[in-house]
Amino acid sequence: MKLVKTVAELRKEIALAKRQGLSIGLVPTMGALHAGHASLIEAAAKENDFVVVSVFVNPTQFAPNEDLDAYPRTLAADCVLAEAKGAAVVFAPSPKEMYPSADMTWVEVTGNVTKVLCGRSRPIHFRGVTTVVSKLFNLAQPDRAYFGQKDAQQVEVLKRMVKDLFFPLELRVMPIIREADGLARSSRNTYLSEKEHDAALVLNKSLREAEAAFAAGERDAAKIVAMVTAAIEKEPAAEIDYVELHGLPELTPAVSPLKGTNLLAVAVKFGTTRLIDNVVLEEK
Ligand code: PAJ
Repeated sequence: MKLVKTVAELRKEIALAKRQGLSIGLVPTMGALHAGHASLIEAAAKENDFVVVSVFVNPTQFAPNEDLDAYPRTLAADCVLAEAKGAAVVFAPSPKEMYPSADMTWVEVTGNVTKVLCGRSRPIHFRGVTTVVSKLFNLAQPDRAYFGQKDAQQVEVLKRMVKDLFFPLELRVMPIIREADGLARSSRNTYLSEKEHDAALVLNKSLREAEAAFAAGERDAAKIVAMVTAAIEKEPAAEIDYVELHGLPELTPAVSPLKGTNLLAVAVKFGTTRLIDNVVLEEK
């Protein structure tokens, strides 16, 4: 496994892989790798000859009041995990390498898909994500790129970008990996105290309850949202940012009675840590 830190070095590695006719899998991450990231790398290694894992805490997707400086940075451990799961290259550029000039080109997906859910509470977030992921796509030229359903809205935004900009790649979406107690794995879980971690279990629990209600025939969007909201509000340490139901794809407003595929997504703060989780409600 090679650790490369510059655009020039990465281009060299990619050119060599392409010359050898190798298929390329890209796994974009912000590092502090955990079992969720590991599942993406494993899938990429299974489906491609040459896997690139990027580790870059992307400053343009953080607002000034967010946790850019505090975000965990564990590059040495990340390289060990990436190699164990089958990565050929870890690309860990500096912010200057990815954003060489203060004047820059943005890639921005507009419309409903970036306005609801996290787009409302984090207005500049997705513009940062689409800009950096475009750069990574252009550099790594992957046949397939791997993303987690944990960030369901990010997936919808990126699908839209790939379609609109004709990126010649397949976007692969992998299921949410959870801790044994049900909490969705996240690099931000390391911020949680033991008490906050226990409180955060209400997210998975309330989503599972909603899933069961849907399976039992509940099709009223407002009732499902109210049920999850009430369960989370019972937890004193939880401060709700949103509990929402939207139609998939593209996060259109959910209409009752629910039909087709819908996304039930939550964002909740425990202390200063904001966690997200979701479940897809789909008629079988
Ligand atoms: P990051 O939060 O590091 O996540 C990298 C990838 O891992 C994302 O596709 C995310 O959905 C996936 N992931 C995180 N937790 C997961 C879990 N518990 N189960 C399955 N997959 C999980 O998402 C980002 O970084 C950034 O926005 C990025 C796309 C790298 C752009 O900067």
